[in-house]
Amino acid sequence: MKTNQFGKKGWTPDRIKDLKGKTFVITGTTSGTGFEATRILLSKGAKVVMLNRNPAKAQATIAALKQELGNNIDVNAITMDLAEQASVKKAAKEVLVSVSQIDALLCNAAIAQTPKRGLTIEGWEMQMGVNYFGHFTLQSLLFPLIEKSKGRIVTVGSLGYDMGIKTIKFEDLNWEKDYTPNNAYSQSKLAQIMSMYELQDRLKEAGKTDVKAYSCHPGSSRTSLISTNGSLMMKMIFGIMKLTPLTQPAENGAYPQLMCATEPNLDEKGFYGPTGRNHWTGPVGAHKIEPHAKDKTVAKRLWELSEKETGIKWNI
Ligand SMILES: NC(=O)c1ccc[n+]([C@@H]2O[C@H](COP(=O)([O-])OP(=O)(O)OC[C@H]3O[C@@H](n4cnc5c(N)ncnc54)[C@H](OP(=O)(O)O)[C@@H]3O)[C@@H](O)[C@H]2O)c1
Repeated sequence: MKTNQFGKKGWTPDRIKDLKGKTFVITGTTSGTGFEATRILLSKGAKVVMLNRNPAKAQATIAALKQELGNNIDVNAITMDLAEQASVKKAAKEVLVSVSQIDALLCNAAIAQTPKRGLTIEGWEMQMGVNYFGHFTLQSLLFPLIEKSKGRIVTVGSLGYDMGIKTIKFEDLNWEKDYTPNNAYSQSKLAQIMSMYELQDRLKEAGKTDVKAYSCHPGSSRTSLISTNGSLMMKMIFGIMKLTPLTQPAENGAYPQLMCATEPNLDEKGFYGPTGRNHWTGPVGAHKIEPHAKDKTVAKRLWELSEKETGIKWNI
């Protein structure tokens, strides 16, 4: 195993300096890694704008954060449902009028392993629509302010990128044929990861090297992901896994995205997550990524298709 650039314990939030004056925008903070990332950013003095689909849950989240960190934390909530492009566009507009800088956008929210094939309003398979197209549009609309702020875009992927068909099913993007929860989730996560490496290339080509794009994953973390969406069988399997050292606390699952959002001079080409057994748990750092996630032909085609599907053209 390669030595971890952050030492034996790997990257931890102890490395984060004071974040006063910094602004972070993060999706999906009502539970899991998003909640933990928000808590840690706020504890370091940052301003955090949370984008969630459920306003009541968002308010309960703010109450929980205030209870732990005090009433002076700088946090606010904007409603956004990633399954609806209109909601994403509205939320992006609200973000742009409510903050003057974005040091990092953390694309954390997701659904996973949806047992029955569902479609978003736009007609995309639900996991592809929420996890990928929702974030694609959000990123592009916030990009001008992120660029002005010399900020970062951080995408929370999954090891699932390597557990499906390992490419994008261009001929049947929405799984009209042969839908399986795992293949559809895997494609959405692969698309999220691929688009970060493609974005890096596009930024470089345009000479915009002040903006950074990162790809990471939380390993195997004890969150609500499977209990919210998965089939009974998946819930049972993950329920048992949660009792074993094959999983880690949600807080540890938040470290890779926090590292990508705050660590100076982090290599964009890397893929970041736990570096222990199977990359499920363990010290956080860079680890290998399989070549299909950086397949340039597929990535370019996916980007062009995404601009066409969403009707959004990135202003790079
Ligand atoms: N946990 C793991 O082991 C694991 C493994 C690999 C990758 N990941 C990735 O880690 C990230 C965080 O997941 P988690 O494990 O922390 O799961 P989680 O506890 O279920 O949190 C997911 C968050 O996403 C939000 N969300 C879901 N659908 C949304 C939508 N349509 N619009 C806006 N927000 C939406 C959820 O909101 P609600 O509260 O309203 O449902 C929740 O806040 C995801 O990207 C996931 O793919 C997790």
